[in-house]
Amino acid sequence: EEQRPELPSHQLWYKDDLALMHIMVPFMNQVENMKCMDDDVFVCSWPKCGTTWVQTIVMYVMNDANLDKFGDKTIEDIFPMLELIDITGGTDIPDISAMPSPRLMKTHVPFKYLCEDIRERRKKPKIVYVTRNPKDAIVSFYHFDPLGFSIPGVTDPEYCKWTFSQYLNCFFHDATTFGSYWDHNLEFWERKDWDNILFLKYEDMLKDPRTHVVKIADFLGKKLTEEQIDTITTETSFTKMKSNNMVNYSFYNSVKLPQASPFIRKGRAGGWKTYFTVAESEKMDKIYEEKFRGTGLQHSFNV
Ligand code: A3P
Repeated sequence: EEQRPELPSHQLWYKDDLALMHIMVPFMNQVENMKCMDDDVFVCSWPKCGTTWVQTIVMYVMNDANLDKFGDKTIEDIFPMLELIDITGGTDIPDISAMPSPRLMKTHVPFKYLCEDIRERRKKPKIVYVTRNPKDAIVSFYHFDPLGFSIPGVTDPEYCKWTFSQYLNCFFHDATTFGSYWDHNLEFWERKDWDNILFLKYEDMLKDPRTHVVKIADFLGKKLTEEQIDTITTETSFTKMKSNNMVNYSFYNSVKLPQASPFIRKGRAGGWKTYFTVAESEKMDKIYEEKFRGTGLQHSFNV
């Protein structure tokens, strides 16, 4: 057994098992023990796999292709991340049972830490899961986590100087925030045929976004016109989302250092090639093969 690596000072091993940021821990009790409703909608993912894209499509679909009613609200208000509802570090934990239905919720927490209502299928909230090839996911996470998302007074300053190779090594030890990419994917993949789970792949979405808007609308039971589907496809394109302050996380700038890397960054597949050495890429391929062999789960690693 390899030794579990020490984490940077802003992270810990939650329940001796899952790498999380300290600031997420106070929210975990609610995440693990919440009560669900059948009309809840969750977007679940390992970080940087296309969560915000899917969330934005879901918001538009649920609101008939029009988000005007939300005014100045951002995606954080409308579609909170359960394990970090309040990024400003407030001590009051916002009560998600007070959210108006249908509740829209995002989480990166692995399946086994979701509430019992979901795991035991006592309720059937709609769950959209999105995955992405691990090479592009970790490159994206590198830009967000050590380089882009440094909260003054919270994030370990040494961490913000990490090289990609250091960060990738951390990934190989399941020690980036939210832990094992492999287990996270497999836990949802094994349940992809549940009628309340829709399993999507980022690269497929890139190839044919409109089809995925239709898929998501069908899954959520929303009947939309062709024109509404077109509007949603256009409004959730990379370029539109990048300049849309409701969803581009530019609002993070008020609580942290100006982002070194924008949240909506490249939006492509295959960008990993300029970050991985040949040896690193081969190591990833080998692990990928070991972990996913026989499961039927496959990703595209290119455009
Ligand atoms: P890159 O950093 O590779 O550009 P998440 O929302 O799960 O954190 O994922 C963020 C990644 O999704 C980023 O990847 C971001 O650019 C990409 N993304 C966000 N909106 C997108 C869109 N409309 N089309 C394509 N990619 C998008």
